[in-house]
Amino acid sequence: VVWRAGGKGVNVARILLALGAETAVTGLVGGVTGGMLRSDLRTAGLADKLEEITGDSRRTLSVFDEGTAHTAIFNEPGPTVGPREWQRFIDRFIDLVAEAHAVVLSGSLPPGLPVNSYAVLIDVACKLGVPTVLDADGEALRQGLSGHPTLVKPNLVELESFVGRSLRFPNDVVEGIAAMRKAGSETVVASLGPEGLVAVTPEGSWTAKPPESVVGNPTGAGDAAVAALTLGMLAGTPWPQRLADAVALSAAAVCMPVAGAFDAAAYRRFLPAVHVEAR
Ligand SMILES: Nc1ncnc2c1ncn2[C@@H]1O[C@H](COP(=O)(O)OP(=O)(O)OP(=O)(O)O)[C@@H](O)[C@H]1O
Ligand SMILES: [Mg+2]
Repeated sequence: VVWRAGGKGVNVARILLALGAETAVTGLVGGVTGGMLRSDLRTAGLADKLEEITGDSRRTLSVFDEGTAHTAIFNEPGPTVGPREWQRFIDRFIDLVAEAHAVVLSGSLPPGLPVNSYAVLIDVACKLGVPTVLDADGEALRQGLSGHPTLVKPNLVELESFVGRSLRFPNDVVEGIAAMRKAGSETVVASLGPEGLVAVTPEGSWTAKPPESVVGNPTGAGDAAVAALTLGMLAGTPWPQRLADAVALSAAAVCMPVAGAFDAAAYRRFLPAVHVEAR
């Protein structure tokens, strides 16, 4: 049995830290699980800027069957967050973002939060001139887009649920991305599993494909892509190189059995072999 602080934001933060970026984690935690999560973040060396709530943080149980290589995942519902807890979080978030160079907003919203929560947080960052990266699903994503995040990273399922139909690669995907850009984010980088990334930005459009389809654990590969795209944004890395980085890193994340980690040797090996093409 392996126990580990998780959640998409934590996965992104672990990768950013491994790449040498000073990273803090915020969010809402509580109860015994919340305490364990905080101590695991300390062990990882991540700055803990979490807000304490009265509810218990949720756990996700993944059961991996070595015989069939199937994984079953049991998600608890998150704790319900009260309006005062949410307001306290926003107040702390403002102070935190004032010191930040970028903000990544990742994952589902716990029960009790307004569905436009991501739009509210993106607005805070926007007013402080801090760029934002949004990685969410369903209504949280749809409403979050109205806050105009700097970049949004849907996977294929999230893009399909956004447009309400199935999308074939590549033409339909580009139409889906166009719809998402219209809804509020100038830059959309869609991730398509082993097919890699499709980016549509004000500077141009590209596809980036990994050199091989990696057999491994794809959970958290998108989080690795988000981490790389965020660092590339901060460094102003030219898009072709930025996307190659994100593809190599996320493919290297598939090599690892846990989310929030990547195989450094595989990353170096994949990087020069990523195929980037302007569209
Ligand atoms: N089997 C694979 N082989 C090589 N690269 C992969 C594979 N699966 C994913 N990737 C890389 O990881 C990126 C993100 O994958 P995916 O689209 O599955 O993200 P996701 O569904 O958002 O993942 P998660 O939300 O679990 O982090 C892809 O764009 C690709 O670069
Ligand atoms: Mg994802």
